[in-house]
Amino acid sequence: QDKRESLFVLSQWASKLFKENLWETELGQSIGLSYFKERGYREDIIKKFELGYSPDQWTALVDEAKRAGFQSEYLKEIGLAIERDDHSLYDRFRGRVIFPIHNLTGRVIGFGGRTLKTDKSVPKYVNSPESEIYHKSDVLYGIYFAKKAIMDADLCYLVEGYADVIAMHQAGVENVVASSGTSLTTGQIRLISRFTKNVVILYDGDEAGIKASLRGTDMLLEEGLNVKVLLFPDGNDPDSYVKQVGSAAFKEYIEQHQEDFIFYKTHILLKDAHDDPIKRAEVIREVVQSIALIPDEIKVSLFIRQCSTLLDIEERVLLSELNKMRISKA
Ligand code: UTP
Ligand code: MN
Ligand code: MN
Ligand code: MN
Ligand code: MN
Repeated sequence: QDKRESLFVLSQWASKLFKENLWETELGQSIGLSYFKERGYREDIIKKFELGYSPDQWTALVDEAKRAGFQSEYLKEIGLAIERDDHSLYDRFRGRVIFPIHNLTGRVIGFGGRTLKTDKSVPKYVNSPESEIYHKSDVLYGIYFAKKAIMDADLCYLVEGYADVIAMHQAGVENVVASSGTSLTTGQIRLISRFTKNVVILYDGDEAGIKASLRGTDMLLEEGLNVKVLLFPDGNDPDSYVKQVGSAAFKEYIEQHQEDFIFYKTHILLKDAHDDPIKRAEVIREVVQSIALIPDEIKVSLFIRQCSTLLDIEERVLLSELNKMRISKA
């Protein structure tokens, strides 16, 4: 369609403008580029991911876009501009470093912009809204740069944020994509499963990350994928942990600490249960609930056996629990 193609062209143009702002303007260099460098990002990585900068002005992009002859309708549609009550337009991305979001074929379909402020006066990230070319539930940040590495390794690392994808690439781990903070969707899972059935979740080691990892695990299991999970110590995320320990130690850590979902979930839940039998029973039920989501019967029976050893409870008890759950679900 004409409109879709125009939106792609406009996105591509905006991405180029953000890059020029970063590399070729004084503000961009002194604020944006130095921000990336302080985070430890190399120039080749900044270029590869086409990172950019938007100056802290109300209409920098809108003005340029009008000069270049782009229609206001399209600027609004892909959310680069926002309309005021008097119908004038202003820039969505102001005073932020820019992470373009690419689709599978490498075309720019949206943007994430990180504030450079250290206080909490504005949201940390601002993102493009849904549009005709950007369906958030079907996109994973980094998929274009990761797809080949995912196939080669037959494994996909799943992280929370833009910064995590970039830091891991720089560390030499390229089979990584981000769900971008939102909870994982079936569309995103089906995108991954075109390239591999094996996923390792590397979410932030904070409470939100733990919760999201348990939800994400269940969704991945339900779609028939194999799931391992790993949490970084002290609330770290992949980006902060790479920075703390360096690339080599990071790679070693992720290889040695990924756990099968069943161990992960059991460990997380048992931490709070101690020796309280009622709480232990609840943990067992929750683990069986996850197993019940797996579509493959052979895997189900293997996990039930594992669970029986792990929680020291007879297989037939677990199986009867499993069957009860399936009946109540059907
Ligand atoms: P985090 O808060 O973990 O951010 O959100 P981060 O990526 O570690 O950010 P840095 O390291 O401080 O730069 C994870 C992801 O959630 C989305 C973004 O995609 C972010 O990368 N997010 C977060 C938003 O969309 N909006 C927000 O205000 C915060
Ligand atoms: Mn949509
Ligand atoms: Mn977080
Ligand atoms: Mn994070
Ligand atoms: Mn981070």
